[in-house]
Amino acid sequence: MKRRIVVTSALPYANGDIHLGHLVEYIQTDFWARFQKLRGHECVYVCADDTHGTPIMIRARKEGITPEELIARSHATHLKDFTDFQIAFDNYYSTNSPENKELSESIYRAALEAGVITKKTTAQLYCEHCKMFLPDRFVKGVCPKCGADNQYGDSCDKCGSTYGAEELGSPKCTTCGGTPVVKDSEHLYFELEPNHDYLEKWIPDHTTSDVSNKLLEWFKEPLRGWCISRDAPYFGFKIPGYDDKFFYVWVDAPIGYIASLKNWCDRNGKDWREYWGSELYHFIGKDIIRFHCLFWPGMLHTAGISGPDKVFVHGFLTVNGEKMSKSKGTFVNARTYLDNLPADALRYYYAAKLGGTVDDIDLNLADFVQRVNSDLVGKITNIASRGGQMLQKKLEGRLGTLDDEGRALVGKCQDAADTIARFYEERKFNQVVVEICKLADAANEYFDRLEPWKTVKTDLETTRTTLTAALNAFRLIAIYLKPILPVYADKAMKLFGESEWTWESLRQTLEGVTLGTYEYLASRIDMKQVDAMIAAATVKPAESGEVAHESRASKNKEKPVAPLKTEIQFGDFEKLDLRIGRVKECEIVPKSSKLLKFTLDCGSLGERTIFSGIRQAYPDPAGLVGKEVAFVANLAPRKMSVGVSEGMILFAGEPGACGGVLMPTSEAGGGTPVT
Ligand code: 2FM
Ligand code: ZN
Repeated sequence: MKRRIVVTSALPYANGDIHLGHLVEYIQTDFWARFQKLRGHECVYVCADDTHGTPIMIRARKEGITPEELIARSHATHLKDFTDFQIAFDNYYSTNSPENKELSESIYRAALEAGVITKKTTAQLYCEHCKMFLPDRFVKGVCPKCGADNQYGDSCDKCGSTYGAEELGSPKCTTCGGTPVVKDSEHLYFELEPNHDYLEKWIPDHTTSDVSNKLLEWFKEPLRGWCISRDAPYFGFKIPGYDDKFFYVWVDAPIGYIASLKNWCDRNGKDWREYWGSELYHFIGKDIIRFHCLFWPGMLHTAGISGPDKVFVHGFLTVNGEKMSKSKGTFVNARTYLDNLPADALRYYYAAKLGGTVDDIDLNLADFVQRVNSDLVGKITNIASRGGQMLQKKLEGRLGTLDDEGRALVGKCQDAADTIARFYEERKFNQVVVEICKLADAANEYFDRLEPWKTVKTDLETTRTTLTAALNAFRLIAIYLKPILPVYADKAMKLFGESEWTWESLRQTLEGVTLGTYEYLASRIDMKQVDAMIAAATVKPAESGEVAHESRASKNKEKPVAPLKTEIQFGDFEKLDLRIGRVKECEIVPKSSKLLKFTLDCGSLGERTIFSGIRQAYPDPAGLVGKEVAFVANLAPRKMSVGVSEGMILFAGEPGACGGVLMPTSEAGGGTPVT
């Protein structure tokens, strides 16, 4: 049965660049939406820029432009970034739109009529110089709990406590540096308690248990009202009936999902209610659960509008096991990535990591390079490049027929369809990749066993039969990969001379067909490209202050940069003889909290035992077995209480922070000198 599905990703703020943390969400939503389309369902993927709020107003002021100019610029930049990452929205709109204004007003009016809007007077910090009430992120002062200075108005970096901005000691306006005063203002509240029972039932039905269990803790007590108004000056929609009060940005942001859908429907002659009322899924990060699973269903229910079928929550992105950091160059913008590396590589790697849970995912940069090169290029693409080029050069590019063995290989690939579809549907993209790699392994095994590079010299038709099976297997793999790597799959499709691939295309096999010219599908990436990206993203500590508003994946409480040890001369460095060894064994040293015992296969240097104090970075050292590591080979053996250490494993990272063992990415081999 053909399904009608609407999918959304959270709306990025218009005052910041898209970064690799954001992309975790847009890329996975794109996988899922593309998969649904490939299956033949109608799927509309909508998004927009989240354009309102104080930070956008202040940023525009600082740049000497209007907020409208700022959001127009961001819209163009964001959309270009998304497009270059192959993210295919059906509509990428703006919350500053007539549709959104009208919908926000009508949802508010419905809430008024339902009697859930109340008024309360609250004391807030006000800057006389800037003539505005200060949002939490625009005031800094002394933490009322631990006394730490320079803390924001909502929570303390040092002790982690949360408080109200008016509790801060010696508060300062972050815009002008002036001392704010406490001033009363009347605010509008959306009362949630009338929806207590509704939401208590709604939440577990529409989220996973890890998400709902946390939320439901609040239901032990009456739910508190949610403040939905902000005083002028504010960039947003005016609240009907007021001249100087605006909807808080988080009111009209989710309504922006509907507005974007409505705009798409209007332009395509469709009724938005029919689409909004079909299957509806929100993809969001774990930091904005409260807005999507409490306030949002509360607002919608009050207004008599249906809500999402499910809210899919994902975790944050870490890079090399740590929070993204501007000073370490791991807070990478989409454009900086694209300037150095192909979009396909990140899409593939994120797919390999995403399991449809709320767990954080780690972009380990060495693993990223290794995985892309060994799996996407070396394993998957290799089938097409070896098979396709040989067929073209030696066999006029024409496929033959499948024999029994070839049919078995192709059948195996076809039989994986239901399993792969289930994994896609459940957002277990990592399992999709595992299944695809298994098929690629089978195709490579077949290729290597039948040795077409040898038979091509003696028996052309047998070779044609072999290549026909290998290339048919590759074709099926490329169809499975289409949601993850759409551009790659399109190139592959052209190779097979086809004009459209759907899930149904998996049933066909190609025989007797002449292929198009083989185009490069994917090339190896190099650690040098990663290094260049990190260098380009590195911001000096003084400039790396957080941008207010950037909630998703960017809650970087950065540690101070560790000072360097005394400078050494080239002559000192030259004395080191650096070699590569393969880890044969790696185990925890009993009674030591720091040491790991390595047994290294050092090729021509034989086997060595090295003790290394890096256990903290590798709580599960078995994962290092089989890996190549760099080590200092000419260090005098050192007698330790646990044994003799015959060298030093190279490990890099800031003192006290998490680092990693240096792993060469080349296939150099044991004992090879490092150049
Ligand atoms: O956290 C954020 O980045 C918000 N701009 C997300 C808004 S999502 C939706 F509700 F609009
Ligand atoms: Zn001020």
